[in-house]
Amino acid sequence: MKNSKVYDCTMVELDRHHSNRKGNISVMENGKTVPFQAKRLYYLYDVPGGESRGAHGHKQLYQLIIAASGSFSVTLDDGEVKRTFLLNRPYQGLMVVPGIWRTLDDFSSGSVCLVLASEQYDADDYIRNYDEFLKYKKNG
Ligand code: TYD
Repeated sequence: MKNSKVYDCTMVELDRHHSNRKGNISVMENGKTVPFQAKRLYYLYDVPGGESRGAHGHKQLYQLIIAASGSFSVTLDDGEVKRTFLLNRPYQGLMVVPGIWRTLDDFSSGSVCLVLASEQYDADDYIRNYDEFLKYKKNG
């Protein structure tokens, strides 16, 4: 996915079940709302105000990023175009394809960033240096 574009990344509406005065349930299912087979779930929490996370790209990994609580911004970058999404609804997910540099910031207090990922953790799938990322994209 060296030639992927930020326009390949989209907001996905999750299933929402509303119970009067009892709150809500949102559901993600492989192959239905999640357009890949999720093998891993992880979440970021207790991120101090002003801190940013991410700042890396992935070679193979697909992810669905959800603000399960609170809000934060996700900036996507394909080496040519940048797009920033504000995630602030627990029933929406941002689908991020491989080959995209992402940075997460502006975390609200108490926010939880839930991530569904298409693969198990693999440190070799990361590109952590921005210049290396640009080279990777140009060689596509
Ligand atoms: P990292 O991906 O660098 O965090 P972020 O990019 O969101 O700022 O991960 C931080 C640490 O957690 C790093 O030591 C690797 C470890 N980690 C795992 O062991 N498994 C995982 O699935 C993830 C996402 C991270």
